[in-house]
Amino acid sequence: MPIEVRDLTHIYNKGSTSESRALSGVSFRIEDGEFVGLIGPTGSGKSTLIQHLNGLLKPSSGQVLVDGVDIWQKGMSLRTLRQKVGLVFQFPEQQVFEETVREDIAFGPKNLGLSPEEIDRRVREACGMVGLSEDLLDRSPFELSGGQLRRVAIAGVVSMRPKVLVLDEPAAGLDPRGRDDVLMNVSKMHRMGMTVILVSHNMEDVARLCQRLLVLNEGRLVADGVPRDIFSRLEFVKEIGLRPPEVVALMEGLRNRGWDVRVDVVNVEEAFAEIMKELGRRKEAR
Ligand SMILES: Nc1ncnc2c1ncn2[C@@H]1O[C@H](COP(=O)(O)OP(=O)(O)OP(=O)(O)O)[C@@H](O)[C@H]1O
Ligand SMILES: [Mg+2]
Repeated sequence: MPIEVRDLTHIYNKGSTSESRALSGVSFRIEDGEFVGLIGPTGSGKSTLIQHLNGLLKPSSGQVLVDGVDIWQKGMSLRTLRQKVGLVFQFPEQQVFEETVREDIAFGPKNLGLSPEEIDRRVREACGMVGLSEDLLDRSPFELSGGQLRRVAIAGVVSMRPKVLVLDEPAAGLDPRGRDDVLMNVSKMHRMGMTVILVSHNMEDVARLCQRLLVLNEGRLVADGVPRDIFSRLEFVKEIGLRPPEVVALMEGLRNRGWDVRVDVVNVEEAFAEIMKELGRRKEAR
């Protein structure tokens, strides 16, 4: 179920004095099973863009095609679309609203008209996928910790078994352990076959996890490629106000001091290997 965005422009409050252009001529295509990171500075249009992928926003111009069909074409059901493309909002408070965790996760499957047994199965399966203890099912979502609430929000989307999972900053505001847990579970869902689109401000996370990055700046798609290539263009990354991953900054610092190391590293292991190689060369030269 590929997703294709064609020349998408979004203008908020069109025609009023507060008119503002959030996306300009954005085009890309995402194939089944990809794990794509969407990055860009604050206000660059990330949240606006992903709300187009399941029809929460309507393009001012341009198209969104899912499985080759324009989602705004006559006869298309947005309800069916939203089962296939699940969107986890930037703020879980906007997504979670039922009185108990169980009811919240069951909301989607219930609307699909599934049997009580099947709903129960989906709820448990979703808990397992996001690492949420079933002991919490009868609690109010609003008694939970930030990390647990995030998991409930993700489980509420996963319980629909979407083919495409879109997450807007799912690890924001969590402590390091909570963020690792959530991201590990997202990776697991990707390995199980879901297409994942991850919006993140954390360059370490996207460098480590994603196979491909889309970079937005001021509503335009300014780069589309593998993390290694994008982050090694340090000038470009800094120019649009993104902070490169720490390991890239470290390698750049070493290069500036005359070390012969690559800057296109994406994780600590690669950086370590590069440094050891250079140390070996230096030792031999002595
Ligand atoms: N509901 C809205 N009405 C009017 N303007 C909006 C609305 N939502 C967003 N905008 C504007 O559209 C632009 C893009 O916002 P968007 O929220 O998509 O950016 P973002 O990349 O998700 O930012 P962040 O990293 O802060 O989450 C911004 O200029 C923002 O002020
Ligand atoms: Mg946003």
